[in-house]
Amino acid sequence: MKKIPVASAAAALLLTAASLFPPGCNQPASTTKADTAATPKTLSHAEMVERGKYIVTAAACNDCHSPKIFTPMGPIPDSTKSLSGHPANSPNMPIDKKVLKPGEWILIGPDLTSFVGPFGASYGANLTPDSATGLGAWTEDIFIKTLRTGKHLGQDGGRPILPPMPWRNISQYTDQDLKSIFAYLQALPPISNKVPAPLTPDDIAKMK
Ligand code: HEC
Repeated sequence: MKKIPVASAAAALLLTAASLFPPGCNQPASTTKADTAATPKTLSHAEMVERGKYIVTAAACNDCHSPKIFTPMGPIPDSTKSLSGHPANSPNMPIDKKVLKPGEWILIGPDLTSFVGPFGASYGANLTPDSATGLGAWTEDIFIKTLRTGKHLGQDGGRPILPPMPWRNISQYTDQDLKSIFAYLQALPPISNKVPAPLTPDDIAKMK
């Protein structure tokens, strides 16, 4: 049998590759992966709710927005109160005022829904569609504007949304994904839970 020299076998492979992938394929394509992600197919309402559930679960919204059950392995979200925010009946724990100074530790409540630091105090919001205490009165536009601008209720000149709410990360979702998150949140059972208003550093400094 005639042996094919290695070099010519490699050249043949290269030729095949060149015909399968003509030079034009190496040019930047007119749509990038990000563009494709930004223009997914139009989803039905039910598909948006399903996608919203997937994003909310994977993007850890429950960590800061759901009350917890305490287990030996640490706090886990209480599925009967999903996404209803920092529980209004939580005990008011004393705040060490040292946290107001930058460079000190930030405090996190035991169920990971309240936070105190140089920015003041913040409490995970009620994201269920209860109209008095949750997002029931919000429109999709308010929701998207809030998460894109980091301003409370998406209002121009509104107060900045406080740490550790990761709105800068969440703002990176496409419109369709933010709409899907909103569709899922609006499909949750409404839970009445009035989350306390945030505190300014001054409010905390004046505390006894
Ligand atoms: C690391 C904790 C944390 C995570 C994770 C988190 N949030 Fe928040 N979120 C907060 C806190 C704290 C506030 C209250 C901030 C304030 O009052 O300024 C808040 C507030 C909000 C608000 C209300 C904004 C307003 O105008 O008052 C919305 C809406 C919201 N979060 C949605 C989400 C969604 C959706 C996710 C998941 C994709 C999420 N959050 C993940 C901590 C978090």
